[in-house]
Amino acid sequence: MDINKIIQSKGKSKLVMLTAYDFISAKILSEASVDIILVGDSLGNVILGYPNTIPVTMEEMLIHVAAVRRGAPKAFVVADMPFLSYQCGVDKAVENAGSFLKVGANAVKIEGGIEVANIIKKIVDFGIPVMGHLGLTPQYVNQIGGYKVQGGSKKSKEKLLRDAIALQEAGVFSIVLELIVEETSKEITNAVKIPTIGIGSGRFCDGQVIVLHDLLGLIPSFKPKFVKRYANLFEVSKKAVTEFIEDVKNGAFPSDENVFHI
Ligand code: KIV
Repeated sequence: MDINKIIQSKGKSKLVMLTAYDFISAKILSEASVDIILVGDSLGNVILGYPNTIPVTMEEMLIHVAAVRRGAPKAFVVADMPFLSYQCGVDKAVENAGSFLKVGANAVKIEGGIEVANIIKKIVDFGIPVMGHLGLTPQYVNQIGGYKVQGGSKKSKEKLLRDAIALQEAGVFSIVLELIVEETSKEITNAVKIPTIGIGSGRFCDGQVIVLHDLLGLIPSFKPKFVKRYANLFEVSKKAVTEFIEDVKNGAFPSDENVFHI
């Protein structure tokens, strides 16, 4: 899918975006024909074991974006701009965003509303497509005071609507809406001309995004209400590894079919 098809999908068909951080996951998503692959800074939690996304660096993101591009040569790949890679001045933000395109991304994603609109406009002006991200923006977790559902009050709804319009005017081609009450995400979706992609934000967004590891059941300790598990790969993988250990210990592996002879 290209950027024009993504924009034109609004009101016609639902967009599906999934995260990938490595070559083989990207290959799976690409073969399953997902619309958009997001190399999220959630890789901080999911892959690198950080407590949140704040420590993630440009260097770490660039390695994973390049791996995803190698696994999915034709996919539309969005790279998450990590904390402090765009708050550090417009010139540096443009340079960091451009670095993602150099390793194969088609677009970048930036968290925040009116406060980042000027930066986004500059990045877009230089030919780098930007996806917005509103609602529960994990890079603001210290200010929000936790991973809380957003948009429930009149004040919060009105701020989100203002932010969404500001992002649209700055030139974003779509907006992720994270953990926003369904009534508010529906209003935002109706208020903008570009597609909204929801996570934990209900049924009326123009598309849905989820972290692949949550969908596959790879993180047993994490099962929020908005996640639907389609597999239980943590348990499946643990069982396979346990069986391998037993086979080696009791001499069942390697068997004759696994060895070479003269
Ligand atoms: O980093 C990420 O995976 C994200 C999605 C949850 C939208 O930003």
